[in-house]
Amino acid sequence: MLKDDFKNLFQQVKADISANMSKEDWLALEKKYLGRRGELNKLMDSLKSVALEEKKELGKLANSVKDELDDFFKKQKGILGTNEENKFVDLTLPGTKSEIGYLHPITQIQDELIEIFIGMGFIVEDGPELESEYYNFDALNIPKHHPARDMQDTFFTTEGNILRTHTSPVQVRAMEKYGAPLRCIAPGKVFRNEATDASHDHTFYQLEGLMIDKNISITNLIAVMKELLQGIFKREVTVRLRPGFFPFVEPGFELDIKCLICGGSGCSVCKHSGWLELLPCGLVHPHVLRAGGLDPALWSGFAFGLGLTRLVMMRYGIEDIRLLSSNDLRFLKQF
Ligand code: PHE
Repeated sequence: MLKDDFKNLFQQVKADISANMSKEDWLALEKKYLGRRGELNKLMDSLKSVALEEKKELGKLANSVKDELDDFFKKQKGILGTNEENKFVDLTLPGTKSEIGYLHPITQIQDELIEIFIGMGFIVEDGPELESEYYNFDALNIPKHHPARDMQDTFFTTEGNILRTHTSPVQVRAMEKYGAPLRCIAPGKVFRNEATDASHDHTFYQLEGLMIDKNISITNLIAVMKELLQGIFKREVTVRLRPGFFPFVEPGFELDIKCLICGGSGCSVCKHSGWLELLPCGLVHPHVLRAGGLDPALWSGFAFGLGLTRLVMMRYGIEDIRLLSSNDLRFLKQF
């Protein structure tokens, strides 16, 4: 019945409404019902074939339906006009809860370390990830034939630059920029061209440390390292130095800490040695001081390269390095 069709029109409109309709959606809906070829006019057209008496009655009904719909759409447009997002707002719908973010465990440990070093008077310095061979190798006393330059370890760009393989290039950059005395750290990303597995990734994080002053010795190095370890592990940590070779330090060392799990008696974490390898370090090589514009007869210094990625893995017992760059929320939400 035509009468029912008129009466049901508003119901039909309501059935077409969905949540979060944009202004455009509303205009389209209005057109569908009230437009020149809209549903209402279609019904009006069929009025022509109706008997006069009935036509009068239906005409009235049609007009009131039209008014009702006009009113309805006008109201909606009013709402849309004042709403910033031009969205239909259904206040009865439950809200969307936004999750709070998490700091990546590497960012967390980096922030903590920066705090600790600032407490010891260090400044935080930054260097480019896209580096020149000069700063990454030459200035650090790594000669042309050194295996560290091997194509297998280093990413080269077609322009002849490289992705820095360590944060040590910041040492010379900082010396050039600030001179001496100098205390700085340089946290950041480094890159190695190698196959990835549970303990190797092509991208990882280091924190370089450099202190230059008059009469700097290994004692200063050990004192700063102890303060650092106390800060991270919140307890006294025993350290030992083993000789280690790096072209840019002389003498060079590997710094070990007494195993935090077993206290030195031997366990699976320290592979029953009682010690954990923590970081390479040493006294800055005279060639490197010279490259930084400093006179080795006047100045001396120590440098260390803390592997942030390794430290995070040690701290949380993470067994696969690749998890750290996986962006997997199931992993990240645990920190
Ligand atoms: N740059 C060295 C590396 O990445 C680490 C290091 C830094 C060693 C400072 C000694 C002094 O392997």
